[in-house]
Amino acid sequence: MSDDTSNPIVVMERVNKYFGSLHVLQDVDLSVDPGEVIVIIGASGSGKSTLIRCINGLEPFQGGAIEVDDHRLVPDGGGRSALQAIRTEVGMVFQQFNLFPHRKVLDNITLAPVKVRGWSWERATENAQRLLERVGIADQADKYPSQLSGGQQQRVAIARSLAMEPRVMLFDEPTSALDPEMIGEVLDVMRELAREGMTMLVVTHEMGFAREVAHRAIYIHGGRIVEQGRPEAVFDNPQNERTQAFLSRVLKH
Ligand SMILES: Nc1ncnc2c1ncn2[C@@H]1O[C@H](COP(=O)(O)OP(=O)(O)O)[C@@H](O)[C@H]1O
Ligand SMILES: [Mg+2]
Repeated sequence: MSDDTSNPIVVMERVNKYFGSLHVLQDVDLSVDPGEVIVIIGASGSGKSTLIRCINGLEPFQGGAIEVDDHRLVPDGGGRSALQAIRTEVGMVFQQFNLFPHRKVLDNITLAPVKVRGWSWERATENAQRLLERVGIADQADKYPSQLSGGQQQRVAIARSLAMEPRVMLFDEPTSALDPEMIGEVLDVMRELAREGMTMLVVTHEMGFAREVAHRAIYIHGGRIVEQGRPEAVFDNPQNERTQAFLSRVLKH
């Protein structure tokens, strides 16, 4: 009898993706356990964003398969229902927040649960208020995104994703667009989320966060996973020469 908690929640099987003639993901195999926190590092253009965008169905791919929580995506679809289920179960936070600028903070968070999940406004609002409290900005609910700092906007974006009750959260360089003094408040929210057991894939070069929070670090080069392991192993004792070269460049700064 299988133990449910030991089944991976995300599985990528020999995933290949092209942009025209550019082979952006090459035979990517990846299996993510529930509650696992994975940090993805690699040079600009190596395929980090493309990899995580494939996991929530934002990018089609041409070979292999991706499964999230038993919903299966294949190159020729896998069906609208799989895509829909995956988009609902996988939350994504982008570098540039991507909030709806003409909607108040609270409405940014309630829209999707009402439209996609069919929740009542009352239920969605209560949930949104609870989430704003959780990310530490309960007092900003009636403002517009432009009236908030970058760190606050990114916390709204995280709350908006959480409002859909995702099983997996993807973060694509969530602190890269922030002023340095705001990075910590966003990482704190992510740290808390990890502690509560959320499954997370995080593209970031915040090495301190990676060491403290991640169970596994993955280094991507040219669309391939070339090295992975415990963050301290990958960062302090990289085996692949490309990882070594990349880290010596990153860690110099
Ligand atoms: N929509 C697109 N059309 C064509 N090429 C793209 C597109 N998106 C990304 N690429 C290319 O795919 C490669 C991987 O990009 P990306 O996944 O964004 O890398 P990273 O996030 O690691 O910087 C890069 O060479 C990039 O120029
Ligand atoms: Mg990117």
